Amino acid sequence: MIDLLKTRRSIRKYKDKEIEKEKIDTLLKAALLSPSSKGRRPWEFIAVTDKNLLESLSQSRQFGSQFLKGAPLAIVVLADKDVDVWVEDASIAATILHLTAHSLGLGSCWVQAHERMHTENETTSDYIKKLLNIPEKYNVECMIAVGYPDEEKKAYEDKDLLYNKLHFNKF
Ligand SMILES: Cc1cc2nc3c(=O)[nH]c(=O)nc-3n(C[C@H](O)[C@H](O)[C@H](O)COP(=O)(O)O)c2cc1C
Repeated sequence: MIDLLKTRRSIRKYKDKEIEKEKIDTLLKAALLSPSSKGRRPWEFIAVTDKNLLESLSQSRQFGSQFLKGAPLAIVVLADKDVDVWVEDASIAATILHLTAHSLGLGSCWVQAHERMHTENETTSDYIKKLLNIPEKYNVECMIAVGYPDEEKKAYEDKDLLYNKLHFNKF
């Protein structure tokens, strides 16, 4: 696990290669294994492979989402907004997707939707909801872009870690 965490990086450039169905199935199964508050599992996941939809999703923000158009897969993570801790539950599932992708030799990157704007008048979440026919009661937390990596990033080393953030017993 610690090696997986050290070598995990946000990968935004992907090879022009489809992801095998078994790997997509494994990713989605991992998401469904995520823990959630009171076991309520308020999330839903939409695996998007359609090129036109990926292009539209890449325009969901002015900055920070454009690279999605080069990804063969995006997993949209949404949750029932009436559940008090929907953000936490959705974020845990998104993290599990990001780490599972790495464990399968895939690169991935989180694209934030919650609290982000598509335009001055429309939130990123509402834009994605309209595009993907998502019912009103859900909010989109993020999208995880996934693909075979076409960039290399250095693994983290002990010297990169902020040990000053750690406290024992009291701050
Ligand atoms: C909550 C969250 C939101 C993020 N949003 C975006 C985003 O919208 N676009 C993007 O390109 N990267 C996004 N990232 C990726 C971060 O930029 C990245 O994790 C950070 O720079 C550290 O790099 P690393 O993941 O390679 O360690 C997000 C990461 C997190 C955890």
